[in-house]
Amino acid sequence: MSKAIDKLQTALKAVREKTDFVPDIALVLGSGLGAYADSIKTVCEIPYSELPGFPVSTVQGHSGKFIFGYDGDKKIVCMKGRVHMYEGYEPSDVVMPIRLMKLMGAKILFLTNAAGGINENFHPGCLMLIEDQISFLVRNPLVGPNVEELGTRFPDMTHIYDESLSGIIIKTAEELNSELFKGVYVQLSGPSYESPADIKALRLLGGSAVGMSTAIEAIAARHAGMKVCGISVISNMAAGITGEELNHAEVQKAADSVSARFEELVKKSIAAF
Ligand code: HPA
Repeated sequence: MSKAIDKLQTALKAVREKTDFVPDIALVLGSGLGAYADSIKTVCEIPYSELPGFPVSTVQGHSGKFIFGYDGDKKIVCMKGRVHMYEGYEPSDVVMPIRLMKLMGAKILFLTNAAGGINENFHPGCLMLIEDQISFLVRNPLVGPNVEELGTRFPDMTHIYDESLSGIIIKTAEELNSELFKGVYVQLSGPSYESPADIKALRLLGGSAVGMSTAIEAIAARHAGMKVCGISVISNMAAGITGEELNHAEVQKAADSVSARFEELVKKSIAAF
């Protein structure tokens, strides 16, 4: 067995000592977007700090725990808070929780994040369905010995965001009369925000929104055969668009302000999955 699978099995054992809950859907809640977790019927909570070998977030506002529970008849595991590469973790460590949720039984991964809007038609507080992503500006999380137990060495990423799940999210937004943009998410490592020239370059590359998470999680999930979908909350326009400076507190405040609409879309979409 590879080392990574040993680490995962050890963490899985620690989870199974606390709960035998088998989730169908894994949901990663981005900064300021944790409120959805309060709306589910909680069965068990496990702080990441209680899991051996687990990367633990150090960022304020990213309190880290798994929350297991029911949203209607759907069995969910939420990650309230995630770790980021800018904290110093290897990409393979950052995706360990995703792989663990797969081993717990989750077949669908719903990724969410706060992101800066690159597309000038966006506005702070709008939502973007992630249709595709640009990940090559950060290291690939699958670098290293392949974890054969999870997937193949050279996994395909053509349909990285599942078209049928995305279709359900689009239809749900229409039913809710809730504005939903579509676009390409770009992951950078952070932790600094981008320069205006970075943003112009990312726009030329085809990016619609930029953030410091998500893309490597989607890669790890597809590698492991999960179906992936995602929504970005555009918390701010990216650097240089409005001329205003960016700061983390403002990003979180903006994410908070849209959280009710976000939560409704996530909840109703999950009900329809
Ligand atoms: N850039 C990178 N990450 C972000 C941003 C941004 O403008 N907003 C929220 N996360």
